Amino acid sequence: MQLPLVVLACTALLCGANPLHSRVSQLSADFGVKVFQEVAQASPDRNVAFSPFGVASVLGMLQLAAAGETQTQIKAAMKYGIKERRVPPALRWLRKELTAPWNQDRVDVADALFVQRDLPLAPGFMKVFTRVFHQAVKQVNFTEPERARHMVNHWVRDSTHGMIGDFLAPGTVGALTRLVLVNAVYFKGLWKWPFPGAATRPRLFHKSDGSRVAVPMMEQTAKFEYGEFSTPQGVEYDVLELPYHGDTLSMLIAAPFRRDVPLAALRRGLDTRLVAEWKSNMTRVPRLLVLPKFSLETESDLRQPLQRLGIRDAFNPSTANFSSLAAEETLYVAQALQKVKIEVNESGTRASSATAAIVYARMAPPEVIMDRPFLFVVRHNPTGAILFMGQVMEP
Ligand SMILES: *[C@@H]1O[C@H](CO)[C@@H](O)[C@H](O)[C@H]1NC(C)=O
Ligand SMILES: *[C@@H]1O[C@H](CO)[C@@H](O)[C@H](O)[C@H]1NC(C)=O
Ligand SMILES: *[C@@H]1O[C@H](CO)[C@@H](O)[C@H](O)[C@H]1NC(C)=O
Ligand SMILES: *[C@@H]1O[C@H](CO)[C@@H](O)[C@H](O)[C@H]1NC(C)=O
Repeated sequence: MQLPLVVLACTALLCGANPLHSRVSQLSADFGVKVFQEVAQASPDRNVAFSPFGVASVLGMLQLAAAGETQTQIKAAMKYGIKERRVPPALRWLRKELTAPWNQDRVDVADALFVQRDLPLAPGFMKVFTRVFHQAVKQVNFTEPERARHMVNHWVRDSTHGMIGDFLAPGTVGALTRLVLVNAVYFKGLWKWPFPGAATRPRLFHKSDGSRVAVPMMEQTAKFEYGEFSTPQGVEYDVLELPYHGDTLSMLIAAPFRRDVPLAALRRGLDTRLVAEWKSNMTRVPRLLVLPKFSLETESDLRQPLQRLGIRDAFNPSTANFSSLAAEETLYVAQALQKVKIEVNESGTRASSATAAIVYARMAPPEVIMDRPFLFVVRHNPTGAILFMGQVMEP
């Protein structure tokens, strides 16, 4: 089922009091939205639930661990340096704003660093790390991979109030894993104006391939913030805002007017600037809103999307440089993934995301390259008999 484009927007992101702080949080959101674009573009007809905040958090941690060209690439894609003076206070401010009790709707954010117990960390790394991130450092032993995996999954389950149960699949961590960087987000918001349960009934939803399915749709009439817009290519669409009861969070819903226009026409131009422009151009008008109840659970492999944004060396065992984290071992990011679950019904929204970068040590055995003439012997070892032998002067 192709859904209308849904954006969870935090008003604090868009109109924060301190301009430097809100600049950093905007850059962080911009980066996350770009990753979403890449993920969605790779599978345009699939449901995608994504957390821009989660991906920016994990890449921020990676940026701190990286050095040299690896760090330059991450920094260039994110457009801010995690060690710049203004950045750590801005990220702390952002987190405080997001999770503060005055939001009423609940947002929990947590980061964790699962690190191999005997990995020698570069001096000073932990100090910088704790200054920037509010995180938990857990020592684990990846030579017992199942146990380590269960510890990560347990932490994710706790941090998402049970919504994401089996985050890392068997086999994702192994004896060469050195580090797992994880971010978890939990959100629970009640609609400011709940949908009356009795009004929900099956209606037809038009999928992008032209077919139709009957799904339960909620319905209510209220005065919503609403606007009609058009893309630079002239695709007309409308945007409606559904506020949560605490009034600091809302869900913005956008869809092209015409059913035969693909959602991609709208998704392509999406960025934080456009979302802010929606917000400031909407007006409060009475509307009858019909919206499907929905529940999505999607998993995204972030490697290719991040590589397309220029973050390449981090994933390449022979070029990755994570010497800010550990100088004695060659590390690289073997996997980057995100799992998101979202449930939208008459009373509100519950959503969780878990994002991880899984860092491995590169096995670097000494090389033996037979690139010159050599002898060979085929021997029966128990008896010492030599069955064949020869020399290879030119293969
Ligand atoms: C990693 O980057 C640092 C800082 O630029 C540099 O000194 C070091 O030589 C690099 N290490 C590798 C293995 O490229
Ligand atoms: C990790 O577990 C392995 C296997 O049980 C054990 O041999 C090793 O000493 C442990 N390493 C650390 C650092 O605890
Ligand atoms: C929002 O309104 C401003 C001022 O009227 C206008 O310049 C701008 O193009 C509008 N934005 C969108 C996305 O329609
Ligand atoms: C909506 O979902 C929440 C859990 O996400 C549940 O507690 C609530 O009862 C549901 N509301 C309705 C009207 O189904």
